[in-house]
Amino acid sequence: MREKNFITFEGGECSGKTTVIAEIVKMFDELNINYVSTREPGGVKIAEDIRKVILNVDNVGMEPECEALLYAAARMEHLNKKVIPSLKEGKIVLCDRYLDSSIAYQGVARGLGLENILKINSFALDHLPDLTIFIDVKPEVALKRLSLRDKTDRLDLETIDFHNKVYEGYHEALKLYPDRFVVIDGNQPLNDVVNDCKKAVLKYLGV
Ligand code: TMP
Repeated sequence: MREKNFITFEGGECSGKTTVIAEIVKMFDELNINYVSTREPGGVKIAEDIRKVILNVDNVGMEPECEALLYAAARMEHLNKKVIPSLKEGKIVLCDRYLDSSIAYQGVARGLGLENILKINSFALDHLPDLTIFIDVKPEVALKRLSLRDKTDRLDLETIDFHNKVYEGYHEALKLYPDRFVVIDGNQPLNDVVNDCKKAVLKYLGV
């Protein structure tokens, strides 16, 4: 098994993560790199089912603790069924969100605290990403983009204050794990964000 192949992508709403990952997938196809592209919450059936419960707009009253536990449950299902097996097969795993999202959203924005999030996610702590690309977008820029988007889920309905706290939360995660983070300026035009992310991944892989 090749080591250090677990790559995650993090950022607040409308950071461009989805486009970035799609472009990296295209680049990997062109370079004949063996990979799997996946996402959290989701990636496997049970975790996708949990995703529907968490993001359902009818569930606005969900307790923060319940939300944090559901994300952690989805994470373990996905980790054991998809991420670890793919890494064992020697694939590079590109994962849209992981533990740092729980630190930012549940730990800081929902106010559960870092310690609780690390405790709830203790199984996942044995499998931290090797590289995390953090697309750093100022909340006001992200919210302007969000208002232009028609898709809405429960977390999109949160206030600017919530998104500011998410931003703060990512910077807490960065402080906690400085070695595996690469920060990309997400306030630039999307093309430049994509190019910077591609360069960072290729540099990391030594390609
Ligand atoms: P997505 O929009 O990137 O698909 O992510 C779905 C939502 O789930 C997004 O608003 C962030 C949120 N989320 C958390 O709050 N905690 C987590 O641990 C994860 C993985 C996602």
